[in-house]
Amino acid sequence: MSSASTPSPAARARVLAHRPLVRSLQRAYSAERAASLAYIGHAASLRDPAAKARIKAIEQDEWDHRRHVLGILQHYGIPVSRRFEIQYYWIGQVIAASCHVIGWFMPYFFAGKLESGNVCEYFVMMRHFRSLGIREHDAVLYEMGMKEKEHEIYFLAQVEQSRLLPWFEKVFAWGRARSRNDVDLERKYALEDGPLYCPRQGGGSAR
Ligand SMILES: [Fe+2]
Ligand SMILES: [Fe+2]
Repeated sequence: MSSASTPSPAARARVLAHRPLVRSLQRAYSAERAASLAYIGHAASLRDPAAKARIKAIEQDEWDHRRHVLGILQHYGIPVSRRFEIQYYWIGQVIAASCHVIGWFMPYFFAGKLESGNVCEYFVMMRHFRSLGIREHDAVLYEMGMKEKEHEIYFLAQVEQSRLLPWFEKVFAWGRARSRNDVDLERKYALEDGPLYCPRQGGGSAR
C-alpha cells in the first residue's frame, strides 16, 4: 500500500541514512510474521470456534501489516534483515508452541501486552518520516497503529474479568489501568496528528 510513485534519489538517500527508521521498518517486517505465527499457535490451542475465528482474523491482520511494511521497504530499496527474520521466526514459533502448555490466560495477556507496545511503533515511524518531509505513508502507518490498538483492546477484554489480571498487571505493567501507548479509540487524533501519539517513545519531533 506504499505509494506507487518512485521516491526521488534525495528522499531515498534521506530514508536510508535514518538508521532508527530503517531498523524499525526491518524489525516490524520480521516481528509481524512472529505475531502471525504466534496467533496460529494461539488459535490452534483454543476450542471455542468464535474465539478461534477472532484470533485467525487477527493473524490475517498481521500478515497484511507485514505486506504493507514490505511495500515501504521495497519503495526505498531497504533490504529485509536476515538476522531479524531468523530471530523473529523462532520467537513466533516458540510462542506458538508455548500456547499449548501455558494455559488459557497467559497467551491472551502477553498478546495484549505485546500489541500494546506495537501500537507506538507505527506512530513513531510516522514521526520519523515526517522529520524527513515524507507524508506519503501516513495513512497506512496510522491504520496499522490503530489496528494494533484494536488488537490490544480485544485481548484486554478477554482477560479483564480474570482474577489473575491484577497480579499480572502489577508484575508486567500492562492491564486495565496500564497501557504502553496513549491511544484512545473513542477519541482518536486525526491522521494529520498521528505523530503526536507516543511522545516519549522513539524520539523525533511530532511535526
Ligand atoms: Fe501488526
Ligand atoms: Fe497486532
